[in-house]
Amino acid sequence: MIAPSILSCDFSNMKQNFDVLNEGPADYVHVDIMDGNYVPNISFGPDIVKDLRKLSTIPFDVHLMIEHPEQYINVFFDAGADILTVHPQTTAHLSRTLQAIKAKGIKAGIAINPAESLDVLNYTIQDLDLILIMSVNPGFGGQSFITTALDKIKAVRKLIDEKNPSCLLEVDGGIKLNNAQAVYDAGADIIVAGSAIFGATDPLDALKQFRELRP
Ligand code: DX5
Ligand code: ZN
Repeated sequence: MIAPSILSCDFSNMKQNFDVLNEGPADYVHVDIMDGNYVPNISFGPDIVKDLRKLSTIPFDVHLMIEHPEQYINVFFDAGADILTVHPQTTAHLSRTLQAIKAKGIKAGIAINPAESLDVLNYTIQDLDLILIMSVNPGFGGQSFITTALDKIKAVRKLIDEKNPSCLLEVDGGIKLNNAQAVYDAGADIIVAGSAIFGATDPLDALKQFRELRP
């Protein structure tokens, strides 16, 4: 499955960008929320997400790169998020935060940065609907894929198959048409692509080419 990240969009033109997502079609819309605190960049907030939600029925996969995400579960739920993914170290009581997301009836995920170990999964995997493996350091679109992510994806695939087969494995950062197949082959269910789609001369054609790849 493919989840284009709208971070690389021209924001003066969102109707046209969503026409691409709807026509592709994309499986998810990946929405990157950055607070300028946990990550060194600021993107946009829940009011914008709420307005964008009107442009598509495709599920919104919301990646929270913010401190204290537990304080924003309600607003992003109200804005139309279908998945909320948090970074474990941004919330004091991770298990409580995951339960609070699931109590809204939406999917809960955690994101793991390139230099972070998988230990956090030991006591959370049963509660997770999604694991997001970061293949760049969070904060910006258009960075290069960190290849050590591939072994990590394989390890997480194994863990999911053993412990919670319904959990989705998503990979985010630096994915292009020339490395996406390797990411699927390592075990990803969902790949995120931002600049490879919205930075392309023909975004719809790029999205369609991603769709031709198979996990
Ligand atoms: C990075 C974001 C990514 C980013 C992906 O912090 O989480 O979702 O938008 O962009 P590309 O595909 O350009 O690396
Ligand atoms: Zn992301």
